[in-house]
Amino acid sequence: MKAFVKLDVCRLAGAIDRRIFSGFLEHIGRAVYGGVYEPGNSLSDAEGFRGDVLDALKGMDMALVRYPGGNFVSNYDWRDGIGPQAQRPARPDFAWKTIEPNTFGVDEFMAWSKRLEVDPIMVVNLGTADAREAAALLEYCNLPGRTYWSDQRVANGNKEPYAVKTWGLGNEMDGPWQAGHVPAEVYANRALQAGQLMKGLDPAIELIVTGSTASVMPTYLEWDRVILERCWDTVDYISCHRYSHNRDNNSQQFLAEGVVIDQVLEDYGAVIRYVRARKKSRKQVCVAFDEWNVWYRKHDEDYAWWQFAPPLLEEMYNLEDALVVAQYLNSFIRHADLVKIACVAQIVNVIAPILTRPDGILLQSIYYPLALYSAHARGLSLDPVVECPTYEAGELGSVPVLDASASYDAGSGEAAVFLVNRSQEQDAIVNVALTGRELKGVTSVLLLSGDDPKVENSWDNPGVIAPVPGEARMLGSDMVQLRVPALGLAVVCLQLHG
Ligand code: AHR
Repeated sequence: MKAFVKLDVCRLAGAIDRRIFSGFLEHIGRAVYGGVYEPGNSLSDAEGFRGDVLDALKGMDMALVRYPGGNFVSNYDWRDGIGPQAQRPARPDFAWKTIEPNTFGVDEFMAWSKRLEVDPIMVVNLGTADAREAAALLEYCNLPGRTYWSDQRVANGNKEPYAVKTWGLGNEMDGPWQAGHVPAEVYANRALQAGQLMKGLDPAIELIVTGSTASVMPTYLEWDRVILERCWDTVDYISCHRYSHNRDNNSQQFLAEGVVIDQVLEDYGAVIRYVRARKKSRKQVCVAFDEWNVWYRKHDEDYAWWQFAPPLLEEMYNLEDALVVAQYLNSFIRHADLVKIACVAQIVNVIAPILTRPDGILLQSIYYPLALYSAHARGLSLDPVVECPTYEAGELGSVPVLDASASYDAGSGEAAVFLVNRSQEQDAIVNVALTGRELKGVTSVLLLSGDDPKVENSWDNPGVIAPVPGEARMLGSDMVQLRVPALGLAVVCLQLHG
């Protein structure tokens, strides 16, 4: 199969925000306890942070990590997680029906973030807590001292304020499963009150208001319109969540998932533009896609309640999942003007690229697209024109076989092209043509592929899926040609003349 990708360094889709390479850490299952935090394990440091996990996460080069939930946050009292650990209360967690010991709280998370060199997104409880509690957490984190909660932080050994810039106003408040779930108008009032109080305490912060949980929600987009109309002047981002699935084992359709992700982003672009136009506003609200991933196998699990850190949502990921993850990233890059933050959900053990055992870690298939895109997508998003065959993707109809995105960093002259071949049978010979700059050379080509969409890395066979070097040849100064294998991702790095 032959395909063409045309790139023009003057035809842009916006500047790529590094924060689209972010993650999500929730108090659930073995994400925190036994995941990032395991005091006493020989692989952990003096603070109890797993060193092997930190090293692997560094390979994903994330900008932000969202914390502490998720559904967990909507009945969480952050004050339980500060002060001397021995005096912290264990609590039942309403969301996941487990025991939360509170030995890892705000201060531990901040110390861990610093070690990982990421900035936090702190999510406040707007389910069962009120605006005052949210503002108190901001006071604890960001005020310099001489107020009750900032003095508590200092007393807990943290003199310098954490200066947390990005804050989430609750989680999935449109969902009946959420503690404190309310209709859109009620949540909008809560979010506005909390947001105004928080920005009143620290005007430097940015706020994410909670959008729809999923496009299948009955209130999809209407919820978002109501929230945006009420909170427009106070918030900076609206959140968007999506978990993709292949429950029907229809890989043709699943591998076309990028089409649906594009549609969701176009929906969000439309509702934001609608509210902006109605308000005659010059301000821009962008999308924080702060939960996204493939998740369906370990859903609705049957397990004994009120355990400490049981293994929940420990999804094993295969090749087709990795190709869908790559399509999320392609879509975020193609919508660079709209999506400024995106958090893969989650990062360790729970629907995660990294699994732990007491004696080590396993890198799952989805780890690699996350690491590759974060390493190579820099600068501006180029708007690719793709010419390729189409195929029938079930309910999604006729879909292009190739899914592409590209970046160009004018400073370094580096460009990167990201290509997913959705075909399960045919390799694609792809000609990438460039306008506006001449090609100097091909820096590297990395391929992730396999013969079977279901192959996966396992503890017994950890190296089944991993990037391998590929080849691309220059056809003059404005074109490169490469073979993208069936069921494959190619990341092509180019050097351009200035
Ligand atoms: O990431 C797992 C859960 O999925 C989160 O707690 C919730 O926000 C979403 O429904």
